[in-house]
Amino acid sequence: MQDRLQKILSQAGVASRRESEKIILDGRVAVNGSVVTELGTKADPDNDVITVDGKPLTIEEKRVYILLYKPVGYMTTMKDPEGRPIVTDLLKGLKERVYPIGRLDYNTEGLLLLTNDGALANALMHPSHEVDKGYLVRVSGHVSPEQIQRLTEGVKLEDGMTAPAKVVPVSESEHNSWISITIHEGRYRQVRRMCEAVGLSVVRLKRSRYDFLEIGDLKPGQFRYLAPEEVTKLRRKGASAGSGRAPRKSGVVAKRGMSKRK
Ligand code: URA
Repeated sequence: MQDRLQKILSQAGVASRRESEKIILDGRVAVNGSVVTELGTKADPDNDVITVDGKPLTIEEKRVYILLYKPVGYMTTMKDPEGRPIVTDLLKGLKERVYPIGRLDYNTEGLLLLTNDGALANALMHPSHEVDKGYLVRVSGHVSPEQIQRLTEGVKLEDGMTAPAKVVPVSESEHNSWISITIHEGRYRQVRRMCEAVGLSVVRLKRSRYDFLEIGDLKPGQFRYLAPEEVTKLRRKGASAGSGRAPRKSGVVAKRGMSKRK
C-alpha cells in the first residue's frame, strides 16, 4: 500500500514525522534509486526500495498470529477476481497485514491460521513438517467399515496415493454420518476427493484441529490471537527462528498470497 514518504520513514523509526520531512528535503532519501525531495511523494514500502543515506529502510512490523473460524462462503485468498468475500474481511481493524497459512476451500469451514510471519508460515506449509490437520466430515448416508478402512490406508487420487490417515466414525443419523479424518498432507481439496474416491458424498467439511490447536468455542467468523506459548510450540514445529518483531527491508518482503493451494 502506498503512503507518504515522511509517514513511512517515521513509522520505520527513522525520525519523527517533522524530522523525516527535513531528511527528505535534504535529498537523503531515494525511492528505487531516484532521490526524492518532494514532500507529497508516495511510495509502497512492500514493493519499492526506499533508502536513507543509501541504506535500505528496515521496517519493523509486529508479528501477529491469529486463529480464525473461517465460515463457509469465504475465499482463503487476499483478493478474489469474482468479488467474493475473503477471510481478511473478517479481521477488520487489524493493523498488520496477515496471510493465511494454507487454504480452506470456499465451502469448507473451520480453523485457519493467519500470520505476517512469513518464515513460520512457509516452514509450517512445507510438506516435510507433516502438520496434522483434523477434519470433521458430514457425509450423506452411512459409512461402511470398508470405506473407513480404505480412507485409513490411503486412496488413489489423480495426483497419486494419499498417505495413511486416521479415520474415526463419530455419529450417525438416518440420513447423514459424521466421521473424523486426520491427515498431514495438504493437497488440493484432499478430504473431499478422498471421500469421493470411496463413494462418499461430503455435505459439510469443518477443520477442527491444526496440530495441537483446536477450534474450541469460536463461532464462524470469530478469531483469537495465539498465546505466546502456542506460538513457541508452532515455532518448534516449524523449526523457525525469530521472536517478537519481524524486521524486513523495504522492497524485499514476503509477497501476499504466499499460501499454497490446499
Ligand atoms: N480438504 C478439502 O477437501 N478441503 C479443504 O478445504 C481442506 C481439506
